[in-house]
Amino acid sequence: MTTKYTPLKDHDTPIKVLFTGYLCTVGVGYLFALIQILFTHGMADGKFGLSVDDIVYSYYGNRSGTVLENQLNGAMKANASEQERFDIIKWVRDGADHDDYQDDGIEKIIETRCVLCHNENASGLPNFKKFDVLKTYTIEDTGATFSSLTRVSHIHLFGISFIFMFIGLIFSFAETTSVRIKCIAIGMPYGFLLADILSWWLTKIDPVFAWLVIFAGMGMGVSFMFMWVTSILEMWLYKPVFIDGIGTYYLKWKDDPASSPLSKFLVLAKKAQVYLTPIVKTAISKAMAYLDKLIKKS
Ligand code: HEC
Repeated sequence: MTTKYTPLKDHDTPIKVLFTGYLCTVGVGYLFALIQILFTHGMADGKFGLSVDDIVYSYYGNRSGTVLENQLNGAMKANASEQERFDIIKWVRDGADHDDYQDDGIEKIIETRCVLCHNENASGLPNFKKFDVLKTYTIEDTGATFSSLTRVSHIHLFGISFIFMFIGLIFSFAETTSVRIKCIAIGMPYGFLLADILSWWLTKIDPVFAWLVIFAGMGMGVSFMFMWVTSILEMWLYKPVFIDGIGTYYLKWKDDPASSPLSKFLVLAKKAQVYLTPIVKTAISKAMAYLDKLIKKS
């Protein structure tokens, strides 16, 4: 079949540099996005690492407590001592009274521990110099507010669709992937993006939808990785991977209509095993030798 486009490997080097620069920068951006998720949503239940609980707490809220309390036991845990957090939480549970605010020494804790970030200059963060602002966080935690969801939704929809626009455009010049799989890989992230945003709102209504947040997020990640890796390989490593290397097995498998999908898969798995086993074995023995050295040293 003749292609109506220039395959990635045949693009001029300046174009390849442009594509690669974009892909690498967006890739680093994706990593930072994941770290950001780990440190905000990931800490919602007070434990490091992302769990279904984190997602439920972030969107539906932890309705057994107040916002302030949950933040002090979650993402804001490191910002005050055990005793200080206990004092604040006690004050909240006792009704978050204005008179007690000064008398119980809560004002002082907030001023020394929280106001350095939560002040009028910090855009997007509540200003805890104002008692009324702090007070609004002493009510039942019902998760992300309507206005914050609206804000984050529109930013994500506009921003991420742009990212996938360009990644999809670059990947559309790939030649090692069949047209059908290309269409799926390019279209999928938009479906997952919409599902992801929708799932936040659904989780706000009912915590069962937390699984959809995870599923859609992973779907976006998988299509991102697939397009990213294929594009980079085709631009710079076409010969070693697709002519002399492991990619040839994939290409043969893709183009051979005679064998059934299962046998194609088995053949591919076998080849991958033959190819990967020595690499893995060497890596393991190297790691063991390194560990040995460490143990002998200590
Ligand atoms: C090092 C800076 C920093 C300090 C110190 C800090 N915070 Fe925060 N706080 C943040 C950031 C950043 C966010 C937003 C995180 C996010 O989006 O999840 C936040 C969010 C919050 C929220 C949720 C706000 C919202 O709109 O949902 C509360 C409540 C909160 N902090 C309370 C506190 C309290 C109480 C203290 C003092 C014990 C404190 N913070 C100290 C940086 C800080």
